[in-house]
Amino acid sequence: MASTVANDANLAKVAKQNHAMGWVRGFVTSSIGAKYVMAASGLALVGFVLVHMVGNLQVFLGWEKLNAYAAFLKSTGSLLWVARIGLLVAVLAHIVSGLRLAYLNKQARPVRYRKQTSMHTNVFARTMAVSGLIVVAFIVYHLLHFTLGVTNPADYALEDPLGRHDVYSMVVRGFQQPLVSASYIVAMALVGMHLSHGATSMFQSLGLNHPKYNSLFSKVGPAIGVLVFLGNISMPVAVLLGFIQPR
Ligand code: HEM
Repeated sequence: MASTVANDANLAKVAKQNHAMGWVRGFVTSSIGAKYVMAASGLALVGFVLVHMVGNLQVFLGWEKLNAYAAFLKSTGSLLWVARIGLLVAVLAHIVSGLRLAYLNKQARPVRYRKQTSMHTNVFARTMAVSGLIVVAFIVYHLLHFTLGVTNPADYALEDPLGRHDVYSMVVRGFQQPLVSASYIVAMALVGMHLSHGATSMFQSLGLNHPKYNSLFSKVGPAIGVLVFLGNISMPVAVLLGFIQPR
């Protein structure tokens, strides 16, 4: 008798878990769920891009500052790996839900508009998938360049007078090559375009909608896009113009 009661309780627990899992799966794969996943992962990625940019801008303060910052990040050890894994999960979730939303939108509108212009869309909005995929290609190149040292192994191997990884020289030598700088500048234009529309639609997906603040919300995305573009291109441009000198 007692074991039958225990079995029933277990069955009820499993049914409840299955129901919860089914709900989560249904939500994540629904159009509205995919929008929330896009918004939440996008928020994490914008946060990373801004923090990363502020950290990198220390290149203007000289090699001691930038190399000390890079050494500090490395010294955080397992915390750094937690952040890296979180970043990877956010990137994958963002890509998968983005492609899924693009597919669902296409299915919902099997006949294409004859003319793809509307009051509510602009070129940034219509090219989100393309700009996003080019940004992913840039990230792969960027990791091969600065994180793994595959594209410029001699620069990656440099050490500063304190025996630390000479991130400053690696960055400056990289940007002294006009083609490398040009590819970063083009990639930053696409990152800026993507963030400009992405951050704006993030507000809509999260339901942040208030007649009083809507015009302010619509300006935050473009402001972030311009900030990230200008902040990031300032580094290759300053190296090319000789404002940032090799160590
Ligand atoms: C001019 C602009 C940029 C510069 C100078 C720059 C510089 C760097 C450097 C030096 C590293 C290696 C850090 C180290 O190993 O100590 C790095 C890593 C990385 N960067 Fe950038 N970056 C720039 C823009 C971006 C942008 C726009 C993104 C994303 C869209 C990005 C994503 C990453 C990622 C994901 C890593 C790997 C982080 C890690 O391994 O912990 N970077 N970057």
